[in-house]
Amino acid sequence: MSKSIALAASVAMLLCTSVQAAQPSAAPDRPWLDSKLPPEARAKAALAAMTLDEKLRLVFGYSDQAYTEIAKVPDDIVPPDLKTYIVTHQVQGSAGFVPGVPRLGIPDQTQTDASMGVRNSLIPSTALPSSLATAASFDPEVPRAGGAMIGGEARATGHNTMLSGGVNLAREPRNGRNFEYTGEDPLLAGTMVGALIDGIQSNNIVSTIKHYAVNDAETQRTSIDVTLSPEAMRQSDLLAFEIGIEKGKPGSVMCSYNLINGRWGCENDYLLNKVLKHDWGFKGFVMSDWGAVHSTADAANDGLDQFTGFCCATDKGWFSPPAMKAALASGAIPQQRLDDMVERILWALFDKGAVDHPVKAAPIDYAADALVSRKAAEESLTLLKNDGGLLPLRGVKSIAVIGGNADKGVLAGGGSSDVTPVGGAIMIDEHTYLPSPPLAALKQELPRARVAFDAGADPAAAAALAAKSDVAIVFVAQPDSEGYDGKLVLENDQDALVSAVAKANPKTIVVVESGGAVLMPWLSHVSAVLEAFYPGIRGGPAIARILTGKVNPSGHLPISFPASLDQLAHPELPGLGMPNETPVHITYDEGAAIGYKWYDLKGYKPLFAFGHGLSYTDFALSGLQAQPDARSIRVTFSIRNAGKRAGKGVGQVYVSPADWQKAGWEAPKRFGAFAKAELKPGQSKSVEVTVDPRLLATYEAAGNNWHIKAGDYRVMLGQASDAEMQSVTVTLPDQLWSASVTQD
Ligand code: BGC
Repeated sequence: MSKSIALAASVAMLLCTSVQAAQPSAAPDRPWLDSKLPPEARAKAALAAMTLDEKLRLVFGYSDQAYTEIAKVPDDIVPPDLKTYIVTHQVQGSAGFVPGVPRLGIPDQTQTDASMGVRNSLIPSTALPSSLATAASFDPEVPRAGGAMIGGEARATGHNTMLSGGVNLAREPRNGRNFEYTGEDPLLAGTMVGALIDGIQSNNIVSTIKHYAVNDAETQRTSIDVTLSPEAMRQSDLLAFEIGIEKGKPGSVMCSYNLINGRWGCENDYLLNKVLKHDWGFKGFVMSDWGAVHSTADAANDGLDQFTGFCCATDKGWFSPPAMKAALASGAIPQQRLDDMVERILWALFDKGAVDHPVKAAPIDYAADALVSRKAAEESLTLLKNDGGLLPLRGVKSIAVIGGNADKGVLAGGGSSDVTPVGGAIMIDEHTYLPSPPLAALKQELPRARVAFDAGADPAAAAALAAKSDVAIVFVAQPDSEGYDGKLVLENDQDALVSAVAKANPKTIVVVESGGAVLMPWLSHVSAVLEAFYPGIRGGPAIARILTGKVNPSGHLPISFPASLDQLAHPELPGLGMPNETPVHITYDEGAAIGYKWYDLKGYKPLFAFGHGLSYTDFALSGLQAQPDARSIRVTFSIRNAGKRAGKGVGQVYVSPADWQKAGWEAPKRFGAFAKAELKPGQSKSVEVTVDPRLLATYEAAGNNWHIKAGDYRVMLGQASDAEMQSVTVTLPDQLWSASVTQD
């Protein structure tokens, strides 16, 4: 057994107080344990066997803090035997816990954040690159492999529920959580998050898509009321969720903190009952974000199935047994509604395999998992600029590595997704760095070069080192976190550092570690820029292998980078600088015109466009053909490696009605499909993709329909949203269909 496996085994054994019992067995009087029966039937049978108190256990969850705080909660809210159960069964250091029903073989729900890996303050885990990074791979197999890996670690550390993945659209480029999400486009974001969830759930555990919905900024997230029309919502934020849910089939959906059109996210009949459960036919359950519940009967009746995150005497126990019993007794919550809540939770546990395959502590092969993370980074890091082919580095004798704590590690995002990394987090100015220093990795990749480091505190000293080196690589690190929004301007005067170095040596390469977009006032003075996002536990080697050409970069931006703050749809963030929980309001009057759609609409030129990403080789796209196919369009084309190195190219299909305004679109074009192909020099590949009908339609609230307007549509093919494109035209008939899968 390797050292890392042995360490993991002992850590897991020590810390997982809640490791679940062996697989419960089916007997004729326990049909819900018969794995041959469909999950619907099993959920109904288990529900029928439950007492009221047992049902109420499943709808009320506790945060990790309950481990130490629950004793102070009055016994009439949480009875003593339940308190003991929580403390003895909870996985310490984790996000949350929902007690199961051992008598019936229904497991506890042991919940862990999040999309980059298992977050447990006491158990080390493998950190993937940020979700925004893996979206830049433009290859769903990357988040799928990442999800399978982090879901495996969740299982092995006693968790059967992951609070992952996030798919709020990058409507607000400063959103402090954009790194946890999958970009600005509904198709790309939904596809990538769906693949992540699918990978996680391949471990027979439940995953959670979040934060539903339009929780697109962190400023005043618990008190902001967001106005957005149903039409715009269905064509943007909700479409990303819809696609993510279709592709990933998560067992649960986490409702968000904010208000949407005057109603709390977790008490929202429109979003939860009408859209999610009715129109999309979602069979799983809605859990609340931690502290996002504001009532008992209203929340339950408006679609919330599980209150999660209760801990302390000061918390409001809206779904606690006494509150629920009172609401049932008065008729404020019908018994049928409680049964539906419980049945949905049971369905998810049966359907995802959490009952049949109880989680148990197991060794983790951290070395193998780190490789999954490194590969994800290598597919995702995005080369934004490479003048004169400065990269990959060849035959350089001396390199100045400057700034960004590149001697210590790579930056990670903050908040509830902040993984405790294997090897220990390095805390610098209260930000987490993962122990994967690019400096050491560069030295390893370039053994013959003289590599010197300057921390960048004094731009003049850094510039002096750069001046006497063949090339300078400046690392800039821009922290982002849950709980606040960023600024786009690099913190700590890092712009001045880059400018000073670039002035001293024009062969300057900038490696940006950021949660999302940043401004680059020095862009025209540097030769190359690599967007490294938050690159995960093997970020150092991934960066070094790309800079030195061992790996050919193939990432493409899943977000637009604005050129300046005044290009944003909302230059001011409502409530910024005000005390937390100040009631504020924002009207998202840009509607569904997010990211590249906004730039197209306004005629703005972004710093870097959605879909942009360079390679060390060239790709040629040709043979574009498009044909209507029922409501969709089938598109074929060919992609060829026209350069001298092996690499991966991405064909991006965009669609546009001949008259987009008449067709009622939010912007001139939409991203319609994509494909990534790995090709040797000279090799080509034929690709067939399909444009989802919803991407050709507008949503009509009056009839709850999708509607494709008759007319000519241009199908365009390129390698970025602002690139030159070839195009063909298809004529589509008028088509109208229900936006609901539930027939009534
Ligand atoms: C976050 C969620 C997270 C939860 C539990 C909340 O603050 O918004 O994303 O899953 O905490 O840690």
